[in-house]
Amino acid sequence: MKRILSGITPSGSKLHIGNYFGAVKPQIDFQDSDHQTLYFVSDLHALTTVKDKTILEDNIRNVILDYLALGIDPEKTIFFRQSDVSEHSELAIVLANYISFAQMQRMHAYKDKLSKGADVNINMGLFNYPILMAADILLYQVDGVPVGEDQRQHIELARDIAENFNKVIKQEYFKMPQPIISKDIGKVIGTDGKRKMSKSLGNIIGIFDDEEVIKKQIMSCYTDPNRIKATDPGKVEANPVFIFHDLLNQNKEEVADLKARYLKGTVGDVEVKEKLFKAHLEYFKEERALRKKLENDPELIKKILESGKNRAKEIATKTIREVYEIVGLS
Ligand code: TRP
Repeated sequence: MKRILSGITPSGSKLHIGNYFGAVKPQIDFQDSDHQTLYFVSDLHALTTVKDKTILEDNIRNVILDYLALGIDPEKTIFFRQSDVSEHSELAIVLANYISFAQMQRMHAYKDKLSKGADVNINMGLFNYPILMAADILLYQVDGVPVGEDQRQHIELARDIAENFNKVIKQEYFKMPQPIISKDIGKVIGTDGKRKMSKSLGNIIGIFDDEEVIKKQIMSCYTDPNRIKATDPGKVEANPVFIFHDLLNQNKEEVADLKARYLKGTVGDVEVKEKLFKAHLEYFKEERALRKKLENDPELIKKILESGKNRAKEIATKTIREVYEIVGLS
């Protein structure tokens, strides 16, 4: 059985439907195929940017609730916190010796920060970030890592480290992880109809926000700019409200009817958007209810993470023991 792993950094942005359809759903869908899935909250990685204890604790809690509510099934998936499995840190220390400083200086995340000036603000956690991430992956001898395009270079570095290590020890010890990057991962258009949906651009539709917030986001959505009156024939293709209808509205007849009337100019934007709002609430009904339930059940969350930690440790301790033995530390 193929093993799939991915990490989620609790850096604080609230999930929106772009994250969901672009990244979260494809990841969660793996648990229903014949793959073993391991997903973890990369809380150690968050330390590179989040320095406030209360904020970090809050971010971690929210990420856990979001992912469980969106469908991570702790029976099928090994779901855990990175900091609960100290082997991640232990392996990172060993792996750091199998990559050159020069190659680390070529990593995008570091170079981008550097190009913005003030190199004194770049902490070593950020510089070393890709090594810890390589440890996350290699620790579990995984086959595939589903991530966004922005993470491709990190997976490549993990492969380079594995290759260097294997070469030095003259043994195919680490398995080569494959990046799984779907072409449209992260490519959901924003409510401005122009750019990718992204928190920093203010063009998002939330998932777990209050109904009023979501309604506002949907009602302010860009449609067909050339359509002035509801009686003007409109464009459906590349029109964000219809892209969202296709994603969220499970009543396909209603969507077909709205599109047909939109093309003819016999439906107003308001009706299209109100139906979209209803479809959103319907689509995420169970998820929103489950999140509320989980919020009030910290004991259950604790149990889930405890079990995830134990299952992850079973694999992780074996790797660390073997690696220590291989390099001469046992
Ligand atoms: N760096 C990833 C991100 O920001 C999160 C991450 C940490 C990760 N460790 C990982 C992803 C290991 C895949 C595998 O999205």
